[in-house]
Amino acid sequence: MIIAIDGPAASGKGTLARRLAVHYGLPHLDTGLLYRAVGSAALARAIPFDDADALGRIAAGLDVAALDPEALKAGPVGEAASRVAAVPQVRAALLRLQQDFARQPGGAVLDGRDIATVIAPDAQVKIFVTASPEVRAERRYREFAGRGDTASYDEVLADIRRRDERDSGRASAPLVRAPDAVLLDNSALDRDQSWQAALAIVEAKRRETGSAT
Ligand code: C5P
Repeated sequence: MIIAIDGPAASGKGTLARRLAVHYGLPHLDTGLLYRAVGSAALARAIPFDDADALGRIAAGLDVAALDPEALKAGPVGEAASRVAAVPQVRAALLRLQQDFARQPGGAVLDGRDIATVIAPDAQVKIFVTASPEVRAERRYREFAGRGDTASYDEVLADIRRRDERDSGRASAPLVRAPDAVLLDNSALDRDQSWQAALAIVEAKRRETGSAT
């Protein structure tokens, strides 16, 4: 069973994807980390965001086993990730790796922006997770503050709005709900309610498709 989870920043898709992976005993790939790694390397090497070929080469040479999720989750990396994610050469270089992960025997859970539309359009379960920008900013703000990050709520909200706009407006694999993805708006849900809603969506799909996994 392939479970594809897409949604904007801080929608809670990563948490849901991780929990679903544990629940169903499936491997999980947070595809945002790939773009974050490219963005982080571009920042470290001072590569301009319009140098598509150089960014594409970084993406092609990425060592996925060496990614450090904690370091890559820091604030400025998210913005850099969203800049490099709009570069077609970067997306092309990361495509195969994600497709291979999705198609491994037994299935997988992937979360990102284009999983249901580009990476695994054949996924049995597609969920589009979202929440209002204000609710997402509040969550991200608390998460950053917990780590000692000094960004204000307004800065976090502005960053989320900017990334939403860039991710949805880009020409290459924009963030969009696949027509057959189930919408999960968790603006008014707490973590557990959101988890129960996601689980109910997957279980309904499994019944529908008679999935044995
Ligand atoms: O999900 P996360 O916030 O870690 O993603 C960072 C950035 O990577 C996003 O803002 C988006 O631009 C990009 N991304 C993408 N496609 C994916 C996953 C992430 O374009 N499948």
